[in-house]
Amino acid sequence: MFTKAIVVGASSGIGEAIAKQLAASGVTVAVLGRRTAELERVCAGSDKLKPYTHDVEAFDEVPDLFAKIVADLGGLDLLVYAAGVMPKVAEGEYDFDKDRQMMAVNVVGAMAWMNPAAARFEAARAGTILGISSIAGERGRRGNPGYTTSKAALTAYLEALRNRCSRYGVNVVTAKPGFVSTAMTQGMGKLLWLIPADEAARQSLALARRGTSAIGFVPARWSLVAWVVRSIPSWLFRRTNV
Ligand SMILES: NC(=O)c1ccc[n+]([C@@H]2O[C@H](COP(=O)([O-])OP(=O)(O)OC[C@H]3O[C@@H](n4cnc5c(N)ncnc54)[C@H](OP(=O)(O)O)[C@@H]3O)[C@@H](O)[C@H]2O)c1
Repeated sequence: MFTKAIVVGASSGIGEAIAKQLAASGVTVAVLGRRTAELERVCAGSDKLKPYTHDVEAFDEVPDLFAKIVADLGGLDLLVYAAGVMPKVAEGEYDFDKDRQMMAVNVVGAMAWMNPAAARFEAARAGTILGISSIAGERGRRGNPGYTTSKAALTAYLEALRNRCSRYGVNVVTAKPGFVSTAMTQGMGKLLWLIPADEAARQSLALARRGTSAIGFVPARWSLVAWVVRSIPSWLFRRTNV
C-alpha cells in the first residue's frame, strides 16, 4: 500500500520500529531525528532507509527539508510523526523550559511536518498521516502536566486535520499507545501492559493501513481504561494519582 514514507523521530523506539517495518515491506523511508549516529545505526544494512538529521524545533527548516525529501524519494504517500519527549517532572516542580520543549517537539513540530504533508496529500487526493499520540492525553494529569497537555493537543490537532482532509481522500490516523518499552519509559518501574516497541509499531501501522482515518489505542484494551478515566468527574479525578 505505501511506497514512500517519512518517519519523524525514528532514531529510536517506536519510530525506529515503524521505519524498519516499513522498509522490510518494501517502502523507501526517510528517517529523521537529531542523533546522526543513531540514524546511521537504524539505516545500516538497508538501502530502503535514508537518514536525515533534523531537530523538529527548527521549524523554519521544515518546508525546504520536506520538499527535498519528497524530491529525493520521488514522491510521498505516508508521513509518520513519532518524535516526542517526556522529561521527568518532580512533585512541586514547575519548569517552563521542560513544558516548552514538550509543546515544541510533541505538538508544534507535528504541525510543522503535518501541514505540508496535508497540503500535498489533499491536492493529490491520496496519502496517509499517522501521528503517535498517547493515552496520556485523555486527561490532564498531575504527574506531568506538560506531557498530558501536549498529547491532548496532538490528539485534537489530528482530529481537526482528519475532519479537514478526509473528504479529499487523505487518511489521518491517531495511534494512542499505552506503555511501550523504549528509552522514554526506562527507569519507570513496573508498568501496566508494557509492550515492546515492535508491537506498538505493528499495531500503529495496522491502523494506518486500514485506510479509514482510524483512531486507535495500542493495544486496543487501553480503550477501556480511557473510557473509565474520562468518566471520572473532575472533583474525584484530582484526588487520584493516575
Ligand atoms: N514509550 C511509551 O510508553 C509511549 C507511550 C505513548 C506514546 N508514546 C509516544 O511515542 C513517541 C515515540 O516515543 P518512544 O517511546 O519511542 O521514545 P524514544 O525512543 O525516546 O523516541 C523519541 C524519538 O523522538 C525523537 N525526538 C525527540 N526530540 C526530537 C527533536 N527535537 N527533533 C527531532 N526528533 C526528536 C528522538 O530522536 P532524537 O533524540 O535523535 O532527536 C527519538 O527518535 C513519542 O511521541 C511518545 O510521546 C510513547
